[in-house]
Amino acid sequence: MDHLRVRPAGPLSGTVELQGAKNSALKLMAATLLTSGRSILERVPEITDVAIMGEVLESIGATVSREPSGALAIDTPEVLVPVAPYELVEQMRASFVVLGPLLARHGSARVSLPGGDDFGSRPIDIHLRGLTELGVEFTTEHGYVEGRCDGLVGTRIVLEFPSHTATDNLLMAACLAKGTTVIENAAREPEVLDLATFLGEMGARISGAGTSRLEIEGVSELSPARHETLPDRVEAATFLAAVGLTGGELYLPDARVEQMDMLLEKLAAMGMTIDPSPAGVRASSSGRLSAVDVATLPYPGVATDYKPLLVTMLSVASGVAIVSENVFAGRFRYVDELRRMGADIRTEGHHAVVRGVERLSGAPVRAPDIRAGAALVLAGLVAEGETLVGAVEHIDRGYEDFVGKLARLGADIERVVEHAPGRAPL
Ligand code: EPU
Repeated sequence: MDHLRVRPAGPLSGTVELQGAKNSALKLMAATLLTSGRSILERVPEITDVAIMGEVLESIGATVSREPSGALAIDTPEVLVPVAPYELVEQMRASFVVLGPLLARHGSARVSLPGGDDFGSRPIDIHLRGLTELGVEFTTEHGYVEGRCDGLVGTRIVLEFPSHTATDNLLMAACLAKGTTVIENAAREPEVLDLATFLGEMGARISGAGTSRLEIEGVSELSPARHETLPDRVEAATFLAAVGLTGGELYLPDARVEQMDMLLEKLAAMGMTIDPSPAGVRASSSGRLSAVDVATLPYPGVATDYKPLLVTMLSVASGVAIVSENVFAGRFRYVDELRRMGADIRTEGHHAVVRGVERLSGAPVRAPDIRAGAALVLAGLVAEGETLVGAVEHIDRGYEDFVGKLARLGADIERVVEHAPGRAPL
């Protein structure tokens, strides 16, 4: 398997053009199943997760291709094959978001049950309960969930937790339900707002997008549409964290700063200079960062996806920080890898105590998931000697040209190809 070789190279500086948000693009792709015809999605990142979602859509009957402009074209047929097989869902649990569109459009769906992962157990009860309230009957056997309905009927659904993908699934299903659906305690993530915007462009009637109360007036059909994916705020956070660690200057012209308030506040509190504007964000850093406590929460709180980046920054900051994970209790596995690089981190349940050390030391480590993989690369940028980050396919799932973008900022990083590459990004 490939790995990344990283060595410290001093301050980074430059401009990064952000990719489209992974967690938006995957749902926009699923939403095209709600109608037949050709939808065009711009700024869809060239990453493995998009390739997997492309395979899911193709197994359902769609044709997925890149236009010469780079936009993703998805042609969905009149008749779908409403199945998402184990082989694909097992590789990417986000493919579970085809469930809502398939039920709404086809009246039945057979989707492999996603398992747990590196964040621990990840149930889907909120998805299934909401869809049941819309009129779906579910059975689960042989590792698949099978849903059937004779048309969906709008109702009021109160989510037990503002689950991001459960909100996506229910929102998409409700667009074609009969009557009005209200989703209370909905996820407010910007990517949900982006999905709602695309659905609106397809002809859906949604109000309250971006708030915790979504109201959807069902329509009998939707039409294909063209949409530009939101810039990726987690990619933005990754490059901000890189410059926080190495020092230097960064400009992210596409960053939607209004969607990153809590993160930017934390970075400023750690000692970075942050200059947000409608034209993006400029950030700079010099000297050692200071410790601040961090607690993750659903949006607009500090995103759990930022946490591995922040923990890496805190591991070399001056002082002691308490980091609390309130979204995925098990999302601390990468801490063992940071410890192998000399970080002083103690975890207890969903809390971590991070005591900043003067410097990290390069070591071979393994990327346990997308964000933690990126964070380990950033650790390598400031660790003495050489860091080899293995299982780099996790990073490929979510970051387009990660190595190239870091190298253009001045990082000393290269990809060491050990075998023929696996699945090419779409
Ligand atoms: N939960 C349930 N039951 C459910 C659904 C969720 O108990 O039916 C719980 C989860 O176990 C977790 C909490 O609710 O404790 C939040 O999970 P959520 O459903 O919001 O997460 P998700 O939708 O599965 C998305 C992103 C994640 C991101 C989280 C939180 C996608 C494809 N994934 O996951 O992104 O961390 O929201 O914002 O949108 C990543 O990009 O690397 C990534 C992991």
